Order: sequence, then structure tokens, then C-alpha cells
Amino acid sequence: MEDKMGSECEGPEMSLVCLTDFQAHAREHLSKSTRDFIEGGADDSVTRDENIAAFKRIRLRPRYLRDVSEVDTRTTIQGEEISAPICIAPTGFHCLVWPDGEMSTARAAQAAGICYITSTFASCSLEDIVIAAPEGLRWFQLYVHPDLQLNKQLIQRVESLGFKALVITLDAPVCGNRRHDIRNQLRKNLTLTDLQSPKKGNSIPYFQMTPISTSLCWNDLSWFQSITQLPIILKGILTKEDAELAVKHNVQGIIVSNHGGRQLDEVLASIDALTEVVAAVKGKIEVYLDGGVRTGNDVLKALALGARCIFLGRPILWGLAYKGEHGVKEVLNILTNEFHTSMALTGCRSVAEISRNLIQFSRL
Ligand code: FNR
Repeated sequence: MEDKMGSECEGPEMSLVCLTDFQAHAREHLSKSTRDFIEGGADDSVTRDENIAAFKRIRLRPRYLRDVSEVDTRTTIQGEEISAPICIAPTGFHCLVWPDGEMSTARAAQAAGICYITSTFASCSLEDIVIAAPEGLRWFQLYVHPDLQLNKQLIQRVESLGFKALVITLDAPVCGNRRHDIRNQLRKNLTLTDLQSPKKGNSIPYFQMTPISTSLCWNDLSWFQSITQLPIILKGILTKEDAELAVKHNVQGIIVSNHGGRQLDEVLASIDALTEVVAAVKGKIEVYLDGGVRTGNDVLKALALGARCIFLGRPILWGLAYKGEHGVKEVLNILTNEFHTSMALTGCRSVAEISRNLIQFSRL
């Protein structure tokens, strides 16, 4: 596989060899309020930490003598090919950590050949993001606005800009208690001036700081289906009950997610919720996962338990904080290389060969 890092990794920066190295770098270089905003979990951060710990309780069952001279990490999501099942979760305000913000993220995703879910709270305009990376595969994440007509305008704009799916986030009808953000008075302080976008004045789409609907219901989904041709993906499902309802309401995909532990604390780790959701949908729609994915083995485990691909939240922001587009490319490249190694060392030559048989839940 091509090593895209090339000369960018020469010198002392060679020491960033895994995703947690980027986390350490970001911790040292970002302001306290930005660092807290990125790292924060809700309440006691039990779920944020459990997302990581739960992956570490799972053990692998490798198979050998299977000719792994050619390992192919490619797959598809909603019928579109991606170079590896490693994509970018929606996170807001990328200009907090890098001047070009989401434009840099989009360029890195395009170069890597993976999907980037742009957040409702993007700090660059959707038009600028598309111009920055016109060929990239993009989905749009929607926080549903209480005024349905505003959603309609935004969705139509997104559709005409070539976004390929609408990801509706379900797990934030109200904002979780993020204690650091409250202490740092983030909501008050997160204004245009904090964002380093080169295009001040034009950098915050009008929609961004507006409220999120608290009254959204399953029955409202048909309205979204009536105004868009885009596949609808529900982000934030953690139970078989909601997974069954998602299938019943004819959506095209589910992202098993607890919002990186930033919403309801003390819910299951995403990887622990995955099995029941996958069983409930019975293969009728694609299931994806985000939360706590930090290594190639984590990606392999998620796929073995039935995820079609995983999405990265915080690691993308660490990469962006490190070196903008190039930092995000490095994060994606390192994780893809690790995943490639994990596949080879377990005897998987293609993503289709990654199966439940690879997994053993440890009693630790
Ligand atoms: C998020 N997340 C998020 N989700 C969403 O649907 N819309 C959003 O705007 C945001 N914004 C956001 C900002 C920051 C700073 C973080 C860390 C997270 C949640 C995100 O999409 C994803 O669910 C988690 O981040 C995945 O967990 P990891 O990879 O961060 O462990």
C-alpha cells in the first residue's frame, strides 16, 4: 500500500506514530478551552472512557497460512467506494483548531478517498467546503431545527451541492452536561472571533448557532423522506428497539454512536451496543459505528461485529490541530496502515473476509 506520509514525516515529527500521539500533541498545543471542548465528555465522562476501554476487552482469533501478500482495505458505503472503512464523523467548529477548518478536513478526506460527514456546526460555509474538495464523498449531518422550513432550505442546498446522504443526529435533543465547557463559559465565548477562518464575516453560516428541535419524533421522518432523495442515516442509535424502528421507518443506515460520550453519560460503549443493533436490523440496512476507535485493531473489531465502516471524531481534530490538511491525512494514513496490518495478521485479505469468528470477548 502506498505510504502517503512521505517527506512530511521527516525530522522530530516522526515521533507521531499512532493516533494517541496526535492527542498528546493537541493537548500541548491547543488553548485550554479548545482542548476541553474537544476532549470533554458529559458528566463524569464514564461513557467517553468506556468507548476506549470496551475495545480493549475484546480479543482476536487470528488465522494463518492464508497468503496475505495482497490485502485490500476497500469497501463501499451506500454504494459508494471508499479506500478503507475509516471515515470522518461530524464535528463542529474546525476553524477553532486550524485556520482553513473544514476546507482542510475536506481536502484530506478527498485525498484519502474516504467519506467526510460535514457537521451542521461547520465553521466554513458548505459552498467553500465543496469548492475545496469537489471530488470528495461527503455526507451532511443535520441537527434538526425547530422550524421545519429552515431544515427544508438547508437540505435542498446540501442536495444541490452534491452531498450524498443526510445524517440526522438523534442523541442531542438537549445538550449533555459538559462541565469543562460550562466552567469555560464556552457558549458565551464561542463567537466568530474565536474562529480563525480566513474569511471572517462569511465564515459562520447563519444556521449554525441556532437551536435544535426537542420535539422530533419517529413520525417526522416521513416528512424528511418527502423532501429529499438523499439516503437518510440515523446517528446515535444504541438499542435494538430503536434499530427496529429505524428499519420500520425505511431509513438507509444507522450510526451506532453515543456522541463520543458527550451527550447521555453512562450509556454503553458504542462497540458494546453494536452487536444488538446489528442483530436487530438483520442485514436490511447498513450499520456504522463511531466512538473510541483509535487503532487498526479497533477498526477490525468493529467490522467483525458487523459495522460496515467506522467514523473518527476527536482523532481528526487532533490531526487538524497538528498540521491542517496534512495532519488529517497523516491520521487517516496511520490508521489505514494499522488496519492493513491487522487484516494481514488475522488472515483477512479483503474486508468481506472479516467475520465474527475473529472475535473473542475476554473475561478481564
Ligand atoms: C462531536 N460530535 C458531533 N456529532 C454530531 O452529530 N454533530 C456535531 O456537530 C458534533 N460535534 C462534535 C464536536 C466535537 C469536538 C466532538 C469530539 C464530537 C460527535 C461525533 O460525531 C462522534 O460521534 C464522536 O466524536 C465519536 O467519538 P470519538 O471518535 O471522538 O471517540
